Amino acid sequence: MALTETTTDSVKTTLSGARYHTCVVENHDFVPPKDFEFPGNLVPVQINPKGPTEVPVKTFVDYSKPENEYRYKDFLPYNTLTSEDALTPYEHVDAASRADPDKKALLDAIPDKKDMTPNIGTEIRGIQLSGLSNQQKDELALLVAERGIVIFREQDFVDQGIDWLREFGSYFGRLHVHQWGVHPKDAPELTVVFRDSDKGSYFDNQAEGSLNTVSWHTDMSYEKNPPGVTFLSSLSGPSCGGDTLYANTMTAYDRLSPTMQKFLETLEAVHSGTRQNLLSNKTNLVRRPGIDTIHPVVRKHPVTGRKALWVNQEYTTKIVGMKKAESDLLLNFLFDHIHRGLDFQTRARWENGTVVVYDNRMVQHSVTLDYPVGQGGRRHLVRVTPQAEPPSL
Ligand SMILES: [Fe+2]
Repeated sequence: MALTETTTDSVKTTLSGARYHTCVVENHDFVPPKDFEFPGNLVPVQINPKGPTEVPVKTFVDYSKPENEYRYKDFLPYNTLTSEDALTPYEHVDAASRADPDKKALLDAIPDKKDMTPNIGTEIRGIQLSGLSNQQKDELALLVAERGIVIFREQDFVDQGIDWLREFGSYFGRLHVHQWGVHPKDAPELTVVFRDSDKGSYFDNQAEGSLNTVSWHTDMSYEKNPPGVTFLSSLSGPSCGGDTLYANTMTAYDRLSPTMQKFLETLEAVHSGTRQNLLSNKTNLVRRPGIDTIHPVVRKHPVTGRKALWVNQEYTTKIVGMKKAESDLLLNFLFDHIHRGLDFQTRARWENGTVVVYDNRMVQHSVTLDYPVGQGGRRHLVRVTPQAEPPSL
């Protein structure tokens, strides 16, 4: 029966199986490679104009059962079934532009702070993000721009609830709504990362054919206003593994010769969001059509003035004006340079209550899928993703 001819009630009864996206979503930034095989267990979600506008992602554990108690049920993943227009342009004013360059209001309030490596990362304890004044938030934006990532431990961040997270994130910029990423119920402005099975997800399918699960990228670099200061917070995770890797692309730029730097500053590249939609196109779960956007290969932070490489392996497809062989050679050189620079990389080990704040303009990151999950185990995070200015030099 054609679904558009049915009522909402009949959809609920006749399509109980088909209303769920049957693969467990792990990496919302995953881009299917050319030879990617779509898992056989994908079921298209039937769109009914009179039906629900979002549906729960089917998880390995059925959290609707009372015996499966879980503190963060409010953050379980949902898919949206709506079809929306492209994002509108957004005029960004960076919070760091209001900061005192010495950052004294923030730094003087932190009892325990240490750098993780000389080139990237600072770890902080003893202060709650939820208690920061606006002045301290501005200084945090500047600190994150300088250090690439800042890890806050023992936070009550997610316990403030979904509405508070939206309000907090909005201070730093307009919240990004992912083109298909999963989110808490009624909160598409937050992105959920959830994995509670190591069987059958498309990411596992991809990893089977790869030598490792590392997949460096910047979030949504294909957007006209890609994200800036981003908050990723752990809700639940394995006792060991599932770390997130970070690389400082400011240092990666600095390491290049002046000759190469000058050359790269003349170039632009294509960032493709259409490839990221391929899988979701198969399941009707695309919120809006993907876009391809041209950005400069080097961008400058609007406040610190630091330059960073702005190409990444997941989304950057081509250098504008070059032949394919030339473009591939140059992009692969830059990707290798960023991926191999262990002396400007670090890794975030997740604990309950950890919030990693990263400047998506100045770092790249990758998940590591090195941990087993099965019945009862899971890795669950929520991301608050404010947009920033269009990249420029
Ligand atoms: Fe990401």
